[in-house]
Amino acid sequence: MTQMRLGMIGYGFMGRAHTNAFKRVPDFFPELKYKPVLQAACGRNQEKVDAFAAQWGYASTETDWRKLLERDDIDAVDICAPNDRHKEIALAAAAHGKMVLCEKPLAMNTADGIEMADAVEKVGVANTVWYNYRRVPAVMLAKQIIESGKLGRIYHYRANFLQDWCISEEVPQGGASNWRLAIDEAGSGVTGDLLAHCIDTALWLNGSISQVSGMSETFVKERVHVETGELTPVGIDDACAFLCRFDNGSLGLFESSRYACGHKALYTFEINGANASIRWDLHDLHRLEFFDKADQGALRGWRTIHVSDHGGDHPYMGRWWVPGLQIGYEHSFVHQAADFMASLEKNEPCSPTFREAVETQKVCEAVLNSAANEAWMKV
Ligand SMILES: NC(=O)c1ccc[n+]([C@@H]2O[C@H](COP(=O)([O-])OP(=O)(O)OC[C@H]3O[C@@H](n4cnc5c(N)ncnc54)[C@H](O)[C@@H]3O)[C@@H](O)[C@H]2O)c1
Repeated sequence: MTQMRLGMIGYGFMGRAHTNAFKRVPDFFPELKYKPVLQAACGRNQEKVDAFAAQWGYASTETDWRKLLERDDIDAVDICAPNDRHKEIALAAAAHGKMVLCEKPLAMNTADGIEMADAVEKVGVANTVWYNYRRVPAVMLAKQIIESGKLGRIYHYRANFLQDWCISEEVPQGGASNWRLAIDEAGSGVTGDLLAHCIDTALWLNGSISQVSGMSETFVKERVHVETGELTPVGIDDACAFLCRFDNGSLGLFESSRYACGHKALYTFEINGANASIRWDLHDLHRLEFFDKADQGALRGWRTIHVSDHGGDHPYMGRWWVPGLQIGYEHSFVHQAADFMASLEKNEPCSPTFREAVETQKVCEAVLNSAANEAWMKV
């Protein structure tokens, strides 16, 4: 057994999701040579980080990520802090020779993302970015179906990521609770937060995007800033939609909003090929819908594949329960954590690497530039 002694930076939503994932790995992927060890949790508030460490089983705590990086007993750091902190921590981690796992979006902009990818590659440390939806079994099955050629030539790629939590003007911006609404902490609004997921999946399933035409809107122009208590201009995009062209000749249509009343986290995609179509919906994440043009007669129609079977043909499912019992959101992180440990053993990259995540960053940036300039942009 080889230990991977982990330093977790941030104990919020993702700090918990990733910690849960690393805890599950040895039980459900027992053959892996590398085992995660919850060595240290890092957060700025001693009391809160101690409570998190005690609850989740970390051996120690730090209140300054710089101290964490100086420790010899840390092999890998997992950056689960807000977006504006990713770059500084990742560059320092690479300089200390630590493996780096980083939450998405990788960076605040493309230039920063490239700097981060250059840094981890220069030192040669293992790295990955948590675009976790790739590891939902139904999404992985979609990838396998596309690679088998069953869809034929792809004509359309369509994706949405819809939420509704910002409709009230009373929601403040900034601070621990709402850093996502503050441009200097988040970098962008729905584009980096939600569309980035859609773009990563799209690039993975359907290849590169060559050009984009976007539009965005900030519906609520001013919000109280948590830290100053003052009404402050809102710099992020509340909603963003874009059209695009993929290198394979297909057309893309993407939409994201935090003002889609009734939707909490509705990520959907649909791909239409010459021979077949597939679609997926996060709210029903264990199902993949498939339409095959070859199905003839009165029974033709969309079929729903419950991606829960054993036998090796439903990705990851042999790891879990008996056929027919589905798994959920948190398992996408377990799968990525396990794939990361496996990649160490094989000495292979764990996709998406920092370098691969830069491609998503480029598309996000082109979309925001296109929206600002009201013009098509090359990626
Ligand atoms: N993959 C996904 O589906 C997904 C989902 C949610 C968030 N994210 C990403 O994860 C990251 C964190 O988001 P979240 O929802 O967990 O946020 P959160 O606000 O719930 O947690 C952020 C954590 O970072 C800590 N933190 C902030 N600054 C710090 C610093 N200087 N040193 C140490 N800790 C610090 C905070 O104390 C908090 O514990 C973001 O980049 C976000 O975009 C990804």
